[in-house]
Amino acid sequence: MTDPGRHEPALRLTRADLDALPNYVPGRSPADLARELGLPEAIKLASNEVPYGPLPGVVEAVTEAITASHRYPDMGVVALRDALAERYGVDADRIATGCGSVALAEHLVRATCLPGDEVLYSWRSFEAYPIIAATSGATSVRVPNDAGHGHDLAAMAAAVTDRTRMVLVCNPNNPTGTAVRRAELDRFLDAMPDDVLVVIDEAYREFVTDPEVPDGLDYLDRPNVAVLRTLSKAWGLAGLRIGWLVAQPAVASAIRKVATPFSTSTAAQAGALAALTQVSEMERRCALVIAERDRVTEALRKFVPDVPASQANFVWLPLGDRAVAFGKSCEARGVIVRPFPGDGVRVTIGTPAENDAFLAVAETALA
Ligand SMILES: Cc1ncc(COP(=O)(O)O)c(C=O)c1O
Repeated sequence: MTDPGRHEPALRLTRADLDALPNYVPGRSPADLARELGLPEAIKLASNEVPYGPLPGVVEAVTEAITASHRYPDMGVVALRDALAERYGVDADRIATGCGSVALAEHLVRATCLPGDEVLYSWRSFEAYPIIAATSGATSVRVPNDAGHGHDLAAMAAAVTDRTRMVLVCNPNNPTGTAVRRAELDRFLDAMPDDVLVVIDEAYREFVTDPEVPDGLDYLDRPNVAVLRTLSKAWGLAGLRIGWLVAQPAVASAIRKVATPFSTSTAAQAGALAALTQVSEMERRCALVIAERDRVTEALRKFVPDVPASQANFVWLPLGDRAVAFGKSCEARGVIVRPFPGDGVRVTIGTPAENDAFLAVAETALA
């Protein structure tokens, strides 16, 4: 008898072009790895999270908010947009929130591109970019990173065509940690056509220490600039899924239109509002990460001299063909990092003890 729940894939029901898309790779579960290795615990340095738990007050605010979880969230996200507007000195009608800034990047492609239009970005960069471009039917145009593993903005400007609708500048860049500086970004923006939306993705802005790396929010007087920020990293809310965007009002309004309704949940709104009251604690934690980032970079350079300086909460090991083997070696010793085959390995900065454990493993694997 045929099982009514199973169907032979005789007729294709989904788009054939999706077969060529890579899956987004989430970091491996440390609990699973610890079980597999018979260790009390494993260390996860693979997803660019901050290791210090939710900020004070967040758990209480979320707990309180979920007592109303039988109600839909505030679809206008009014209180949170107002709080962001006040903190960052922008009008609330220029802000849109979403289920992580990755969802907002997706909405931006949806709002700017028709099938066949081009989305331009540096490569290697955030691994979600090719996926979100392709799911909207847009064409990805990737410009290789320069020799220092950063964006080659001159080559990116030269790659703009009359099909280009959106350009992503990932600053600092995931996974290499490099950042573009003010003078080169100014030049790049001057060269952009008015009808191309330049999205400055600043997921790691709070970890930037180089004063020459500009704040994307300073460019908002340019109508074709949008800035993406997230509460997942420095603000410690990765699991609640909340990001935000600032753009000219017409762009922000288009994003709110194409976004999945109610996708900024009640818990996310409450958690974000509570987190935003904890600026000095957030900054204290970022300072710990930054000090560790610089220590880890120095230590790794003894084995891999061309580790680029990072402006984010992770470091990049440009190991090329050795990347996967290095990742496996770390995992076999209970430390999960993020290898990109043939290219390099991204290692998130954890607590000092976690970083020491990683460095011990790395020393063995690289020596
Ligand atoms: C450059 C960059 N942008 C956006 C995101 C998305 O973050 P989220 O969707 O958690 O806000 C990430 C996450 O790793 C990232 O690295």
